[in-house]
Amino acid sequence: MAMETASGGKRIAMMQYGPTWRKLRQIMHKLLMPKTAHSYRPIELVEAQQLSIELMDDPNHFLMHHRRYACSTMFNITYGRRLPTWDCQEMKDVIQVIEGFTSIQNPGEWLVDVFNSLEYLPQFLVQNWRTVGARLHAHERKLWMGLWNQLKSDVADRSVPSCFARDFLDSDWKEQGIDELQAAYINGTMIEAGTDTSAITLNCLMCQLALHPEVVAKAQAEIDRVIGKSRTPTWDDEPNLPYTRAIIKEIMRYRPITKSGQLHMLTEDDEYKGYFIPKGTIVMISWWAIHFNPKRYPDPYTFKPERFLNHKLSAAEYTALADVSLRDHFGYGAGRRVYHPLTIFMADFSVALVCTWRSKDCSSPSRDCFGDSISR
Ligand code: HEM
Repeated sequence: MAMETASGGKRIAMMQYGPTWRKLRQIMHKLLMPKTAHSYRPIELVEAQQLSIELMDDPNHFLMHHRRYACSTMFNITYGRRLPTWDCQEMKDVIQVIEGFTSIQNPGEWLVDVFNSLEYLPQFLVQNWRTVGARLHAHERKLWMGLWNQLKSDVADRSVPSCFARDFLDSDWKEQGIDELQAAYINGTMIEAGTDTSAITLNCLMCQLALHPEVVAKAQAEIDRVIGKSRTPTWDDEPNLPYTRAIIKEIMRYRPITKSGQLHMLTEDDEYKGYFIPKGTIVMISWWAIHFNPKRYPDPYTFKPERFLNHKLSAAEYTALADVSLRDHFGYGAGRRVYHPLTIFMADFSVALVCTWRSKDCSSPSRDCFGDSISR
């Protein structure tokens, strides 16, 4: 239902492992090499600046500010355009895609996914699944294709700044057998995958910071020591902010984006610790069970960033470790499908930046990340 009907078979996060998935991951990997990924950093800083001002000026809409921040960052990285306000049409369209897709993803919700032979029955007997899926697909197809076609005509007019979609267009996607709809979806997925994941994490983070003034005080002391009050943070500060980094890791442990990780299906029979698991079985990383296991995380129900102070590596570096027992947390998944390491780093630190920004005495820096004075 979610992949074939609602996604037209094009959503990479739900795609079966195979040649098409490998091709897409390979292209994404090339386009997100460190040099290119680093060129996106100013985008994140500007968006973090706008977010901090929005949160101060209009705290009641914090949920929408987090969404705008995350969505605009991904929009800019992907299509070279910002989303200046949370109530603009493009934001509404992206949110409609995310909410529509989220609404059909509950495990076991669609009978046709559980009992495949039901697809041969008239759909009105089976939750009208084709109509629901087709309606969602029509909306996202229109949005993603519209952005992709716009990009192509803007490139022809030479009016597109360097961005992921432009680099994708210049890559060998056609020679690799990727069609236009797939190209539009992969770019759309960047925006979709990076929006609510980051926004939800920020929401949870704000909630915990409000509940734990002692954590804010420690972060503030670190920020004052490393950054001071006369300038805003930059990426170069990140390695010197271990407590801030630990806060990010703790929120990823304490409130992963869902209770279970992404669902996966076995493509062949397997055996684990003597248990036979047949092909077709749905498996998931139970984040809740792992992240609240007291043997792994003592006193697991307490929000305690200190537990990660000895985890000196970034989330990207931890996901690359062969020994999973050394991992910091599993919030970005595990195994072959784990979310791209470099983008993890970007998401990880952008959240950290905002956290630094919002800490109480850091609210009125006099200069921005480029050293220019800020007038409000
Ligand atoms: C706090 C932020 C984020 C979290 C917690 C998060 C988490 C995840 C998780 C758990 C998965 C599933 C991995 C699996 O199948 O086991 C995933 C997949 C994915 N994420 Fe993210 N993500 C975040 C931000 C982003 C951003 C910013 C991007 C875009 C650059 C992104 C792009 C993707 C893509 C393309 C996939 C599909 C990978 C595949 O199946 O091959 N994510 N993410």
